Amino acid sequence: MTHREGERGTHDRPRRVLVTGGAGFVGSHLVRALLDRGDAVTIVDDLSTGARAGVPDDATLLEGRVTDRLPDLEAFPQFDEVYHLAASVGVDLVMNEPVRAIETNVEQTAALLRFIERTGAGPMLFTSSSEVYGKPTRRVFSEDDDVVYGPTSVTRWSYACAKAIDEYLALGHHRAGSARCVVVRLFNTVGPGQVGAYGMVLPRFVRAALAGEPIRVFGDGTQSRCFCDVRDIVGAMPRLLGDPSCLGRVFNLGSDEPVSIRELAERVRSVLGSRSEIVLVPYSEAYPSGYEDLQFRRPDLARVRDAIGFAPTIPLERTIRDIAAVIAQRPQEGAVVTTVSERAARAGGRTPR
Ligand SMILES: NC(=O)c1ccc[n+]([C@@H]2O[C@H](COP(=O)([O-])OP(=O)(O)OC[C@H]3O[C@@H](n4cnc5c(N)ncnc54)[C@H](O)[C@@H]3O)[C@@H](O)[C@H]2O)c1
Repeated sequence: MTHREGERGTHDRPRRVLVTGGAGFVGSHLVRALLDRGDAVTIVDDLSTGARAGVPDDATLLEGRVTDRLPDLEAFPQFDEVYHLAASVGVDLVMNEPVRAIETNVEQTAALLRFIERTGAGPMLFTSSSEVYGKPTRRVFSEDDDVVYGPTSVTRWSYACAKAIDEYLALGHHRAGSARCVVVRLFNTVGPGQVGAYGMVLPRFVRAALAGEPIRVFGDGTQSRCFCDVRDIVGAMPRLLGDPSCLGRVFNLGSDEPVSIRELAERVRSVLGSRSEIVLVPYSEAYPSGYEDLQFRRPDLARVRDAIGFAPTIPLERTIRDIAAVIAQRPQEGAVVTTVSERAARAGGRTPR
């Protein structure tokens, strides 16, 4: 199959695309979108949080860490596009295993960019995070805002710093001419296939609602987030990468409609017709000491709207229903972990910090 002409030059062959983290939640949706476009997709994923089941048959999976598999990739024909999603993601991983999370996030990105420099692959899209903004110093985050982090003794900020270093690396290579890059800061991305095991709020709520168990809201539930369906996100990513005017720039990507976490729990309950009780869990029970939740996090979408006309299209109600449908089919996947003690037990008894 050949790709749609006009989207990016005119190859007489399918685009060759590399997706790191392609077996993960966002990655597996992206891979399906790229295959639908007619691309030849190669995935590198160590399956640490991703799953082989998420990889379609017509994609090539190289199992292992990005750093370990790059020598194999040198033998592949040059990649036309690279999407770098592989990362240690989620509250649990970052709080329980900060060293692994920092090393994974910085080392893989540095090595991949050197690979791109050597092989001339790319352009590359890097999935950064709204976490990079740090503490909410204003109500709406714009790409050029200053960032404010807590002290280095508080583990929570290490994820933000690691992602920020990744952004510096990508933009640094871009400026130096050694790799063409676009940086995308994802805000809360939700959708079918996401599991609750790594602290992700919406699948946790849906799973509890389906089981008729209490929906546990951390804190007083007034903290708000903007949730965007992953299918809207992966629709936008190839458009950002395929537009030369977007390269060398940073884009917020997500929804700009805030929903309080308490309201989210209520919506889940009402969409799924569940009788689950909504229970407030104090932060001290929900998170290890040193965790600081943010009261709100909302993106300014003007830049991405101007660049590619992005606007979310999938309503939260549909996302909730679709997440529920997948969980109902595969009820065993993604056991829900909710409190410090449960997390510590899962981490082999070590106290997370
Ligand atoms: N989901 C969100 O709301 C969200 C928000 C902000 C940023 N992001 C970013 O989007 C990207 C994808 O996130 P996701 O939600 O799909 O998480 P995910 O955990 O489902 O996906 C990450 C994938 O990377 C793989 N991986 C981890 N370390 C690896 C390594 N060293 N080598 C190879 N593969 C490795 C995992 O197995 C997994 O498949 C991440 O970079 C994340 O930081 C996601």
